[in-house]
Amino acid sequence: MAGTSKELPNFTSRIAFILVTAGAAVGLGNVWGFPYVAGKNGGGGFMLIYLLALTFVATPVLMAELLLGRMGRASPPTAMRKLQLEARRPEPWSVIMWAGLVGSILILSFYSVIAGQALFYGFEAMVESFHGWTSEEIIAFDAGYKSDIVLMAFWSAVFVGLTALIVSADVTKGIELAGKWLTPVLFVLLVIIVVYSSIYGDMPAALNFLFGFDHLVLTPGVFLEAVGQAFFTISVGVGGIMMYGAYMGNNVNLPKAVTWIVLMDLGVAILAGLAIFPLVFGEGVDAAAGPGLIFITLPIVFAKITGGGIISVLFFVLLAFAAITSSISLLSPTVARLEEAGWKRAHAAWVMSIIAFFLSFLTVLSFNEWSEFYPLAFLGFDGLTAFSLIREGVSNILLPLVGVACAIIVGWRIKKERIMAALPMQETKLFQVWYFCLRFIVPMAITALFINAVFGG
Ligand code: PHE
Repeated sequence: MAGTSKELPNFTSRIAFILVTAGAAVGLGNVWGFPYVAGKNGGGGFMLIYLLALTFVATPVLMAELLLGRMGRASPPTAMRKLQLEARRPEPWSVIMWAGLVGSILILSFYSVIAGQALFYGFEAMVESFHGWTSEEIIAFDAGYKSDIVLMAFWSAVFVGLTALIVSADVTKGIELAGKWLTPVLFVLLVIIVVYSSIYGDMPAALNFLFGFDHLVLTPGVFLEAVGQAFFTISVGVGGIMMYGAYMGNNVNLPKAVTWIVLMDLGVAILAGLAIFPLVFGEGVDAAAGPGLIFITLPIVFAKITGGGIISVLFFVLLAFAAITSSISLLSPTVARLEEAGWKRAHAAWVMSIIAFFLSFLTVLSFNEWSEFYPLAFLGFDGLTAFSLIREGVSNILLPLVGVACAIIVGWRIKKERIMAALPMQETKLFQVWYFCLRFIVPMAITALFINAVFGG
């Protein structure tokens, strides 16, 4: 096998590993995904289900993927190949991670378009400030941006370029340094905005939307949405986490580290809700989903409130930071694989970024020229643009499939003694719960997810 002899670098400390990996998990999804999904699906009731999904489905997979990375100590496909040979199993495990790697570049392609818009808005907020704009002006501004292919491509390129720049450097000087600094700064910015929101916004309305039990709707769809969101939010299933596992030192206590990472991810999601919704409700604007929430609803609010000029700059900087610590994790596994094939790190980072940049046109065009072009309509996926197909296909199909494969490999295909020795862990209650989740809960939850997707419409 190519280049496996070269030793991988390690993150320099446990805390660095935790911050960098938490940074990979915390991303655009925490800010525009979670708060809205939680509020829409019934606040407190959804929160409980989400916590269950996060604890018993997504977190066990996170730990499995990190562990596989550390056991294989190579890029994800190579690591899996090594482990497969060691376990003497006939299935081609590396193929699973090749699929994950394709997913990572596809996510990077649409992530850079959304994050590019955040950079552009941050820049605008700084030089022009949204303060005093009318709602119509903001709606027109968003529409204007989305119809300008060159401008969109430019800001997407800036974002992938920044990602490439960080990943080009040695792991400890690029990825580690970025995660170690940007993740704490992001927390601080978020807390500042939450404090501001509780002063100037309607905090009780936001708390009720996010945690209230009065509008609980319990359907299978809600349960599955919780599982889907839990998977996406902690970034499992594309190899980025496995790669960081390969850079993780042997001194890292996995259950402890995983607990921190998940708590930080959850914390940011909840804080993002407490930053955004008090302002939205305080101004009496309707809560929206996805990019509409951050590129239309929020600027409308920023335009009206005291101090909105500064807060909008902080908010878009925060969003860009959240995105970049995730995008570097998306680029890292393919770059490591190319390094194994003898490429220079910087060379690999730029080539993969350029590929992601070209793919990002599928998303850019979905907002204008192709906004009514549904590539897979003939297969019954009517109404889904190229962007929606990539986003939903990767998050709802590829990510859970790779995730469940990792769970099955750790739970069923590698010997239990080998897993216990690699953790290392005795057969404690904690171990038993984790192992049971990997063997039964995760496969069952994912199967239910797919059955619902196929038959539930
Ligand atoms: N977890 C990221 C978010 O919440 C998304 C992501 C998924 C990033 C997979 C990397 C890999 O936005």
